[in-house]
Amino acid sequence: MKLLGLAASNSRRSINGQLIAHAADIFTTEIEPGASAEILDLNDYEMPIYSIDRQNEGGIPAPAQRFRDRIAAADAVILSFAEHNGTYSVAYKNLFDWASRIDRNIYQDRPAVLFSTSPGGRGGAGVLDVALRAAPRFGMDVRAHLAVPSFNDVFTDGKCVDPETSRAIRAALQSLRG
Ligand SMILES: Cc1cc2nc3c(=O)[nH]c(=O)nc-3n(C[C@H](O)[C@H](O)[C@H](O)COP(=O)(O)O)c2cc1C
Repeated sequence: MKLLGLAASNSRRSINGQLIAHAADIFTTEIEPGASAEILDLNDYEMPIYSIDRQNEGGIPAPAQRFRDRIAAADAVILSFAEHNGTYSVAYKNLFDWASRIDRNIYQDRPAVLFSTSPGGRGGAGVLDVALRAAPRFGMDVRAHLAVPSFNDVFTDGKCVDPETSRAIRAALQSLRG
């Protein structure tokens, strides 16, 4: 089984990226030993800001198709959303918009677990709601979702140190078992 992970943030020290790396590690060692994980870096999918004029004049930039190809090669996906003013980071939204211009079925019906985390007490629950509402229209088969509040209190050195959060992460990932 191939798992694809993406943090919907372009921060090099992304806490959502740390959550995705931790979740992928748990998945491939404990939940589905033998599974492999590929983690994408949103910075590898940077494109000009979407505009209909740019699309008409220059077509759709190659990274949008590359992104879709990585999803096609995976059996399941995990995403973790950074919350910027209650919604997606611009970096993710731009990739999402360009990819949707190829075909709206971006996630190609892959089983998915959606996470969000933030340093605050809601853990990015706002952006997670946005993503959950959008999911069915973009081919995401969401099996579980989890907002992780107070990231800096529950993670140390990239690992979850809070037993309750740790259980919740594992329970969410179990939903992807083959
Ligand atoms: C422009 C901007 C807007 C933000 N808005 C929110 C917000 O609405 N809710 C929230 O919980 N955190 C918000 N934050 C704080 C982010 O949750 C925090 O920067 C977090 O580290 C983002 O995740 P990342 O490290 O994976 O990029 C915002 C941060 C930025 C830079």
